[in-house]
Amino acid sequence: MYRTHTCSELRASDEGKEVKLAGWIHRRRDHGGLIFVDLRDGYGYTQIVFDPSNKDAYDIGNECRSEFVIEIEGVVRKRPEGQTNKDIETREIEVLVTKALILNKSLTPPFEVDQNKEVGEDIRLKYRYLDLRRSRMHNNIERRYKMIKFIRDFMDKENFLEIETPIMIKGTPEGSREYIVPSRLYPEHFYVLPQSPQQLKQLLMASSFDKYFQVARCFRDEDQRGDRQPEFTQLDIEMSFVHEKDVMDLTEKLVMALSKKMLPEKKIQSTPFRRLTWHEAMNDYGSDKPDLRFEMKLETISEEVEMCEFKVFTSVLQNGGTVKALKVQGGASFTRKEIDELEEIAKIYKAKGLAYIKFTEEGIQGSIAKFFKEEELNKIKEKVEASQGDIVFFTADKFETACESLGQVRLACGKKLNLIDENVLSYVWVTHFPLFEWNEEEQHITAVHHPFTRPLAEDIELLKENPEKVRSEAYDLVLNGSEIAGGSIRIHEKKLQSAIFDTLGISKENAELRFGHLLHAFEFGAPPHGGIAFGLDRLIMIFQNEPNIREVIAFPKDQKARDLMLEAPSTLPEDQIAEMHIAIRKPNN
Ligand code: AMO
Ligand code: AMP
Repeated sequence: MYRTHTCSELRASDEGKEVKLAGWIHRRRDHGGLIFVDLRDGYGYTQIVFDPSNKDAYDIGNECRSEFVIEIEGVVRKRPEGQTNKDIETREIEVLVTKALILNKSLTPPFEVDQNKEVGEDIRLKYRYLDLRRSRMHNNIERRYKMIKFIRDFMDKENFLEIETPIMIKGTPEGSREYIVPSRLYPEHFYVLPQSPQQLKQLLMASSFDKYFQVARCFRDEDQRGDRQPEFTQLDIEMSFVHEKDVMDLTEKLVMALSKKMLPEKKIQSTPFRRLTWHEAMNDYGSDKPDLRFEMKLETISEEVEMCEFKVFTSVLQNGGTVKALKVQGGASFTRKEIDELEEIAKIYKAKGLAYIKFTEEGIQGSIAKFFKEEELNKIKEKVEASQGDIVFFTADKFETACESLGQVRLACGKKLNLIDENVLSYVWVTHFPLFEWNEEEQHITAVHHPFTRPLAEDIELLKENPEKVRSEAYDLVLNGSEIAGGSIRIHEKKLQSAIFDTLGISKENAELRFGHLLHAFEFGAPPHGGIAFGLDRLIMIFQNEPNIREVIAFPKDQKARDLMLEAPSTLPEDQIAEMHIAIRKPNN
């Protein structure tokens, strides 16, 4: 037996007991005579003491260095008053070592484990097994497990079946680039890793599995950000014979239960969750994932400035654009530098500039004030409800750009002015997304969610003439300004699905080639169905209040999609590549 207790278990009531412990040398302090060691395992810390009067044990204590693995026997004793360590659970006691054995030695670790020192992320990821020894990481991984366990139990109670779907499949075009796996048996053929189990879960509905869920791994070859990974986990859900409301109700019930269980101290902003249409979210908050922990709404002032002399505004309006305004209370004190920084943010989101006026004691200030008549200024002031001490920012552009860029200024001001209450969980549904969007790069329209999303019944007639006006039965769930889940009611009829492919410019042959399985399933009586998928890593990251998604994944990829520990991706021996009927083409720089 290596141990009678873990390193987090012993308490004052264990005084006098003979115990065995095993773990890692966390910290070693030589107090001229006595050697004190914090012994660490996956559960916690216990202070152990080597006394020179026991020479054999003491020699081992002397030899030990950071991260050595040892096994000890000893007697529990209370620590003297004033010497208890408030940071650890076993603070009241220590173990006087009677016998010790080194189980494994360690090289000097590249960083100290679990000491509050900043360690570069590259080195953390390269030695992930050392990084994961830290209590913060242990806590994240444990909480991740607990959340997923809670979700599985919840879904089980709601009569859902967890069904696994394959990882090696055919392309599931949903918008991002796919990872591909060459086939050895079929030269020139490839499997593709799923971006999500989207089509498979729809096929499960066609197979009459009424309620499906899966904790599913998804793969997307896209640019990495703080809240994205090339390989991530979804809670994937699909249901038959449902309307939007059924999916949303189930989701809401799950999220409420999970929030109360995992974050009982936090306040849920509103139940039922607030709902905004995509248009309202963009128009009022400048985002399709608005952070509603603070209000600060955008206003449209197109009418108020229609006749003004500021050419930037009037020419945008003549071209069908919009002028948006944002009042920031107390913002008249912003310095030139602060305003420039906000303008830079707006420009990242494609604004051409960020005009402003300040309402100060000395009157109205700002480079563009001179272009407005007093009457116009009064109308703007009234519209945004500005008073002395406030600043009003403006963006003029096509609707989405004007809203989005000013929405980012809103967010930055919310943070700057400390308007965000960290104790609030603000859940909001965003519904009625446009079905399509114009893709500047590819110069044609693409699906906003995926091509299986159902258009709103009343908008179907617009498909041919005005596809960008068509709204969808899609919904996203947003938490504190992050998109944590997205889903939709699906198309279940071949005719409508084919019409969507038509609009997307996918030819009949191409549709048959890529989506034949789904189109045929629709011909054999597929039921009406819909679902949703959560980004689980992202949800866990927010629940754990971590700054990025990598902190809640045991072995994540870095921001350049590399696994620094395994050194993946890697080259392969030539014969292994040849076997796949593949020839390497050198990149031409
Ligand atoms: P969607 O693409 O919106 O929908 O994905 C669902 C949720 O997954 C999370 N997510 C990610 N998390 C980490 N890294 C990524 N690269 C990443 N990409 C997405 C987001 C997102 O809300 N099949 C549809 C769902 C459906 O319609 O039922 C789908 O995958 O939190
Ligand atoms: P300019 O006359 O181009 O120097 O612009 C005067 C002010 O208007 C500057 O503060 C710019 O940041 C701002 N501005 C320019 N274009 C826009 C725009 N499209 N929307 C909002 N503000 C703008």
